[in-house]
Amino acid sequence: MRLILVGPPGAGKGTQASHLAAHYKIPHISTGDIFRANLKNGTELGKKAQSFMDRGELVPDSVTNEMVKDRLGNNDVAGGFLLDGFPRNTNQAQVLAQILIEKKMPLDAVLELKIDNAEIIKRLSGRRTCQGCGVSSHVEFEKPKVAGVCDKCQGQLYQREDDKEEVVARRLEIYAQQTEPIISFYNSIGLLKNISALGEVAEITKRAIAALG
Ligand code: AP5
Ligand code: MG
Ligand code: ZN
Repeated sequence: MRLILVGPPGAGKGTQASHLAAHYKIPHISTGDIFRANLKNGTELGKKAQSFMDRGELVPDSVTNEMVKDRLGNNDVAGGFLLDGFPRNTNQAQVLAQILIEKKMPLDAVLELKIDNAEIIKRLSGRRTCQGCGVSSHVEFEKPKVAGVCDKCQGQLYQREDDKEEVVARRLEIYAQQTEPIISFYNSIGLLKNISALGEVAEITKRAIAALG
């Protein structure tokens, strides 16, 4: 299964990606997670990405495309992959298409998670992210067993810099301007499936698997 997950910030891409990656036994590749891991480790890539991420802007394509190309060069994608948060604009979609042609790895599907802005705000304002493994939880909807501590790795939970209200507004704007056009593109070539991202996490995973067939 070679899959792209697309949807606005807070739609639950990361949450669903971890379940779908386990179900299909494929690596979960999140450009946001890779940037955050680099930020945490203070790498050059992290330094380049930080100011863009903190403002809710896209990291420049020159940086992002290289990083994804590199990641798709890894052997673990031979059996498929799940891309979460990439591509996010037309140029990235074109670069990805070129990489996949070269590697003879055509996409199977692009799954869009549909959600309204009111629900996005609720999800992002209560989200907590693990400093250790990067997994998201929620203070109300997906409470960790111990407040402030990750269930998976016991890492500390923190609030992402870009989950502040004004930054979320900018991320939503960018999504509408730059990312929505690629959804129409994937629809026009017959790869798009979409599902509602409302409801219980497990129910949405079932919906996704049913839609992917
Ligand atoms: P990225 O990390 O990809 O952020 P995003 O797309 O804005 O999406 P999020 O991670 O915020 O949300 P999500 O859909 O994964 O939701 P989640 O599962 O966490 O990107 C961050 C930044 O990096 C970008 O702004 C940009 O600067 C840069 N970047 C990344 N990729 C790039 C690219 N390709 N090009 C350029 N720049 C790039 O869920 C959200 C919350 O809701 C959680 O608290 C969760 O617990 C809760 N939740 C999930 N499902 C449910 C449910 N069913 N019911 C109730 N609550 C739920
Ligand atoms: Mg995410
Ligand atoms: Zn963790």
